[in-house]
Amino acid sequence: MLGKTMRDKGQIGRPHMATLALFCALVAGTAAGVITFATASDGGGNYLIGVGSYDMTGPAEGVNMMGYANIQQITAGIHFRLRARTFIVAEESGKGPCFAFVNLDAGMASQLVTIKVLERLKARYGDLYTEENVAISGTHTHAGPAGYLQYVVYSVTSLGFIQQSFDAIVTAIEQSISQAHESLKVGSIFINQGDVENAGINRSPSAYLMNPADERAQYANDVDTQMTLLKFVNDASGKSIGAFNWFATHGTSMSKDNTLISGDNKGAAARFFEDWFASTVKPNSSSPPAADSIGISNQSILEEKAQEIKATGGQPCSRTSSQRSKVRKNDGSLFTGAFCQSNVGDVTPNVLGAFCIDSGKPCDFNRSSCHGNDLLCVGRGPGYPDEIRSTKIIGERQFKTAVDLFNSAHERINGKIDYRHVYLNFTDIEVELEGNQVGRTCPAALGPGFAAGTTDGPGAFGFQQGDTEINIFWKQLRDLLKKPSQYQETCQQPKPVLLSTGEMFEPYAWAPTILPIQILRLGRLIILSVPGEFTTMAGRRLRKAVKETLISNGNGEFGDDLQVVIAGLTNTYSQYIATFEEYAQQRYEAASTLYGPHTLLAYIQEFKKLAKAMATGESINTTGPAPPDLSSVQKSFVLPPFAHPPPPGIKFGDMKEDVNLPAGKSFKKGDRANATFWSANPRFDLLTEGTFAVIERLEGERWVPAYDDDDFCLYFKWKLDETYSHDLAAIEWEVPEDASPGIYRMRHFGSFKKTKDSPTEYFTGASSAFNVVDK
Ligand SMILES: *[C@@H]1O[C@H](CO)[C@@H](O)[C@H](O)[C@H]1NC(C)=O
Ligand SMILES: *[C@@H]1O[C@H](CO)[C@@H](O)[C@H](O)[C@H]1NC(C)=O
Ligand SMILES: *[C@@H]1O[C@H](CO)[C@@H](O)[C@H](O)[C@H]1NC(C)=O
Ligand SMILES: *[C@@H]1O[C@H](CO)[C@@H](O)[C@H](O)[C@H]1NC(C)=O
Ligand SMILES: *[C@@H]1O[C@H](CO)[C@@H](O)[C@H](O)[C@H]1NC(C)=O
Ligand SMILES: *[C@@H]1O[C@H](CO)[C@@H](O)[C@H](O)[C@H]1NC(C)=O
Repeated sequence: MLGKTMRDKGQIGRPHMATLALFCALVAGTAAGVITFATASDGGGNYLIGVGSYDMTGPAEGVNMMGYANIQQITAGIHFRLRARTFIVAEESGKGPCFAFVNLDAGMASQLVTIKVLERLKARYGDLYTEENVAISGTHTHAGPAGYLQYVVYSVTSLGFIQQSFDAIVTAIEQSISQAHESLKVGSIFINQGDVENAGINRSPSAYLMNPADERAQYANDVDTQMTLLKFVNDASGKSIGAFNWFATHGTSMSKDNTLISGDNKGAAARFFEDWFASTVKPNSSSPPAADSIGISNQSILEEKAQEIKATGGQPCSRTSSQRSKVRKNDGSLFTGAFCQSNVGDVTPNVLGAFCIDSGKPCDFNRSSCHGNDLLCVGRGPGYPDEIRSTKIIGERQFKTAVDLFNSAHERINGKIDYRHVYLNFTDIEVELEGNQVGRTCPAALGPGFAAGTTDGPGAFGFQQGDTEINIFWKQLRDLLKKPSQYQETCQQPKPVLLSTGEMFEPYAWAPTILPIQILRLGRLIILSVPGEFTTMAGRRLRKAVKETLISNGNGEFGDDLQVVIAGLTNTYSQYIATFEEYAQQRYEAASTLYGPHTLLAYIQEFKKLAKAMATGESINTTGPAPPDLSSVQKSFVLPPFAHPPPPGIKFGDMKEDVNLPAGKSFKKGDRANATFWSANPRFDLLTEGTFAVIERLEGERWVPAYDDDDFCLYFKWKLDETYSHDLAAIEWEVPEDASPGIYRMRHFGSFKKTKDSPTEYFTGASSAFNVVDK
């Protein structure tokens, strides 16, 4: 439906850029009702800034995870929650353009998500936020629920479209944008950049080596180590309200066997950063947060009796109870710290390298296999073999650099806000080659190196990276699905076509043909929104081309201090973009470069047009082909959650196994406390902005939430009981080093629906109390 709307809009012509922009800021002023445009800028901020953040954790049971295309990787709990984090910037004058940048703890952006978000924004704000000035970018975690993309290739292993995954993401983006919009205030933006040590290595170094030696000689490394950070400060209060940074490393610290929802290393970095910020400005607690009274008033009795405070399972409660039990309550006052993805294509966080699991030796350099078997070659994170530790370490490395950059960010950004956006049909873009030759992009296709997977998650079908042949068996199987056209086979060379996704339309399109590209400008920062994963060198070439184009056409407006960052996996998803030279080797990234050997060149050519338009102040004709809205043709084969009642005589929220107190003793820091509750399926209600699990601490006579399912130290795990007929919720808590000694208990929240049309019933239960001591 939106596709049509956008086309209609195209036909009547878009409002001129300046008109749109003026409208933009004025609406911002009136809608927010808090912006004082009269505030004299006392050498302070030049911008209106707003940030927002909203829970987008999808179904934590029974849903395939997005990223590894591993059909067996099904959600069964939460390590920590996923969020959509947004910043909006506008010129302080109230007369300039604005844009919104959204960072999602998701595998990638999705065209259908973008379309629906834009529809909702249109209903709320008219023409204020459109495809032109909204960027929605994925962190590339491989540990979030799948089923929210509209093209067949991306929903095969998820057994189709999953409405609940989709709705959670769309709503979170809308809410976070709205929060950012409502909070727009005069502020300053600071920029800083620095290197992150050892948070990524090249996982296809043999492909990188295909790039010309003189080009490689310009760089110290075969990955980009630079992080670029923006810091947002409210001028009236002098308080920081948020920080966003861009740095390239894959969200594959968690493996293809993990079943807990997780933001992977970038989500972890964001959690650490936001918590670090909160701890630096913690207000003196005068009134403790609302909590349950336990009805015992004598503290010394309490301490003696701690172990006698018994489990209080099986209480009914309301949905909002789980929100009141959140540790970080989203009232719009929270600091937003976001870790955004960049040219991540060939960068793995598994920095110890890839080794053969049988021999322990390094894998074949060109093929990333061991004696011809790709499954044996697996990358190791710094916490190997503990993937949670790897996630933590890679998250901390990014977090620490971000803190340094944040603390030393003194350069205030000045200058224009601007943007350009265009949709392109990538099936057939003509590009100029050297020597007056002409090349073309091709319909989308995947090669066998795609099916081989990577050292972060090898594929199961016997292919190897670098395969340039397909055997007769697979060819016949492929032809049953779709025999590639001769044109396609020639066009894609040297990639052998395993899946001609750009020529497959049954039951609906397998791959995108229409892709958005976008440039956002904030003073000397240029953000390039790309709908995929550029390899390191591909990203460098694109950044360089855009920078040169802006400078050479900008009539002095742009200088050599332009900082160009790539925002990866933004607005839609079309897999990888390798360089022409890397393409020749047909490793995973090249085999997943959909539109043939000249894909990168087409991006560079089209981005240069946008850059030129920006530099010269021209607007862009956006009448281009709008991407389709395939929501009405999506298929879904995922079953709804089973409504298992509790066993006879037991209520939801009762304990199955009370907390595993070491006999008569207390838990020490570093111990793992756990308990299991009779529960129901977490898909009945996602408890958005709430929690399934809480560790409560006794303060005075009140139970106060200390850790919830958004904390790195707390695990909420769903499973079935031994009889496969009842649901269980296991809560596990690794008592962190900074936990205050005291009396604690575990609490679980859940919900249940007897039938599809029954009302949702909410329940809670608590474990017995237990002591935590220092050592
Ligand atoms: C918190 O308490 C300390 C010590 O009493 C005081 O110095 C500080 O100003 C207080 N901070 C706030 C935000 O009230
Ligand atoms: C609390 O309990 C202790 C130990 O039983 C007792 O000595 C003390 O008087 C009690 N305090 C109050 C305020 O009841
Ligand atoms: C990898 O492939 C390149 C290009 O085909 C070749 O020159 C090189 O010798 C190979 N390296 C190894 C270690 O096999
Ligand atoms: C994209 O281009 C191809 C090749 O020119 C054409 O067949 C196709 O219809 C175009 N798709 C759209 C949606 O315009
Ligand atoms: C924009 O492009 C469309 C299609 O290419 C063309 O028909 C139209 O005239 C152009 N509009 C402007 C204002 O250039
Ligand atoms: C809880 O921890 C104990 C001891 O570490 C362990 O034996 C038990 O299996 C754990 N239970 C669960 C549900 O994880």
